[in-house]
Amino acid sequence: MKTFKISEKIYKYRFGAPRPTEIIADIGEETTKAEIDYFHIAAGEKLKLTFKMEPEDMIWGLGENQRGMNKRGGLYISYCSDDPNHTPDKKSLYGAHNFMIIDGEVKFGVFIDYPGQVVFDIGNDHKDIIEIIIDTLDADVYMIQGDQPREIVHEFLKLIGDGYAPPKWAFGYQQSRWSYPDQKAIDEVADAFIQHDIPCDAIYLDIDYMEDFKDFTISKERFPNFKDYVSTMKEKGLRLVPIIDAGVKIENGYRIYEEGVEKGYFCLDEDGKPFVAAVWPGKVHFPDFFNPEARRWFGLKYKDMIECGIEGFWNDMNEPAIFYSNRGLEKAIEKAKTSENENLDIYTFFDLKDVFEHMSNAVEDYQSFYHNINGKLVNHNMVHNLYGCNMTRAAAEGFREIHPNKRFLLFSRASSIGMHRYGGIWTGDNHSWWEHLLLNLKMMPSLNMCGFLYAGADTGGFSGDCNAQLMIRWLQMSLFTPLLRNHSAMGTRRQEPYAYDQESMGIMREMIRLRYALVPYLYSEYMKALMAKDIFFAPLAFAYQDRMSKRVEDQLLVGESLMIAPIYQENAVGRYVWLPEDMVLWRVDCYQQREFKVMRMGHHYMDVPLNQVPIFIRKNRLLVLGNHGPNIDRLDPSEVFVIGFVEDQTSYVYYDDDGETYGYREGMYSKIFMDIHRKNGNLDIQIRVIGRPATKKIHFDIVDMQGNVTQRTMVLESSK
Ligand code: NOJ
Repeated sequence: MKTFKISEKIYKYRFGAPRPTEIIADIGEETTKAEIDYFHIAAGEKLKLTFKMEPEDMIWGLGENQRGMNKRGGLYISYCSDDPNHTPDKKSLYGAHNFMIIDGEVKFGVFIDYPGQVVFDIGNDHKDIIEIIIDTLDADVYMIQGDQPREIVHEFLKLIGDGYAPPKWAFGYQQSRWSYPDQKAIDEVADAFIQHDIPCDAIYLDIDYMEDFKDFTISKERFPNFKDYVSTMKEKGLRLVPIIDAGVKIENGYRIYEEGVEKGYFCLDEDGKPFVAAVWPGKVHFPDFFNPEARRWFGLKYKDMIECGIEGFWNDMNEPAIFYSNRGLEKAIEKAKTSENENLDIYTFFDLKDVFEHMSNAVEDYQSFYHNINGKLVNHNMVHNLYGCNMTRAAAEGFREIHPNKRFLLFSRASSIGMHRYGGIWTGDNHSWWEHLLLNLKMMPSLNMCGFLYAGADTGGFSGDCNAQLMIRWLQMSLFTPLLRNHSAMGTRRQEPYAYDQESMGIMREMIRLRYALVPYLYSEYMKALMAKDIFFAPLAFAYQDRMSKRVEDQLLVGESLMIAPIYQENAVGRYVWLPEDMVLWRVDCYQQREFKVMRMGHHYMDVPLNQVPIFIRKNRLLVLGNHGPNIDRLDPSEVFVIGFVEDQTSYVYYDDDGETYGYREGMYSKIFMDIHRKNGNLDIQIRVIGRPATKKIHFDIVDMQGNVTQRTMVLESSK
């Protein structure tokens, strides 16, 4: 083992000779003494790191995973998996996010930079022992110091590099379904949103827009003139977001397939031939996204659709999902044949069933194909978790080459740490279950800690039927997630707001309008977090040191000013909430109505009828709101409303930029600095500006400790 000092706060332990994952560029300086030495290390066939936890220690992180924000008690396996049944016993979901924080008397972060399987036993086998088992003897382990968990996250985010900035329209409401297969279906959705006056920014194209599920094709029958159609939709204020799958259909005459074979851009099997697996189109080859040339080739394939006016994509099935391989199918058929005419007993029957059940996403298949990494063939299983990440990298690099200064919407199903540089993620095939609404809430801060700020779940749930109550409550939670997309599977109940009764639709319309009114704040907080290498969602314990805040698993801090306490139980019309300090409660059923209640620190039971979402404004913090509009492009930025809860003084930096380009990296943004002081009953509001904000007028509603509201309107100097 070698030790490297990466920075004052970060050390790297290098075991063996790991293959570069390209997640972290800086290798640091070799040193003989590491200051962080909390793990016991054992190396047999695999690397094993153990750590003894104290009873009070909490474990944060691990990104997309089951269970609580505090990961203690669970067994988690980092191995990107296409498993649509997220029951609590599942150990792997679609992402592999190997970063966690131990938060107790001793505080530090650990990041395992290894792209194969890693097991995190966080007090599962033995309640006080963390055991990390890395499937190799060659890996980099980073240990990160910091006084507080948030500081550790900050150091970690600095280490893994700049995150993804979506275009501003990606903060709008997005409507999806598997599928709106043709123009007629999309027109119906678009017209219904417009007719019912419900804001919306995007409609999704799931696999049926393609011809026979072939990537980068568009069915001529269903979309006779795609380019015209994209622009017609844009005139209606809606963008179309097509899906791209990892598998490329094997079909003579299909350009992508033929080019890939000819140029050797597909993953290879044991005989050196393109590996064959089956997904939606039947048999496919997988592009070798580890090969930079293949990556570029695939990334530039997005160009045709971009030239048709498409500005966003979602990358799917990129774990990669395998329905079956030739090997798996042969094995199953063989088994079925030998079972024919047999009197199957308990063992032989379950044996037979097992072979079929384990045909999809089998490890044996992942072990049976290869990538070309720097001219060497590398077994897929050893780099499995980077496949989806590299597909998304291919797309992002392609976009940069096609339109260097344009921000695209891009998110992926499979991911690993490092992919946050290229796109966001959605959390895959959840269910229309209340439990998954709660899981969504708990996952958000963990995802943020691993770099994924642009994230969200299928609002309303993908599988199963979502009733109106769950749809409304889920929407009330997703109002705060950067990616707000309602998506559902074929065969399930329709989930568009207008698919429900009039009253429910009316509630959802108000909620979606609230989302648009929140965009100035959400975007400002998102971009500031992105640039400051900070998080957007945080557990209460990241800001408050009291005993109770550490225990709260169903409330979240959103940006620097808000706390949310969503309803996540059926028929609940209220809930308990913990206030770590005095806060202002704004119950919103219609965002234009502003009634505020000061609530004192402590436990409260609050009523939350179905049509209301409770928003808490923290003490000495400000919330910037706008007015809603039919979509993000048509929001009016000239006037904003600030709601503040100010005891003595506060300041807020309201950030904005063009929402379209990378100009923000060169300082092309505006900041409005608001400073508010309360002295002898008087309120002093100072405003300072950098850049050229689109905002000209600010209306303030500033609440004091007794609940009195002072209103002011200020016109910005530059616009007087
Ligand atoms: C699986 C994805 O997770 C889901 O969102 C999508 O609708 C289906 N694939 C069909 O493309």
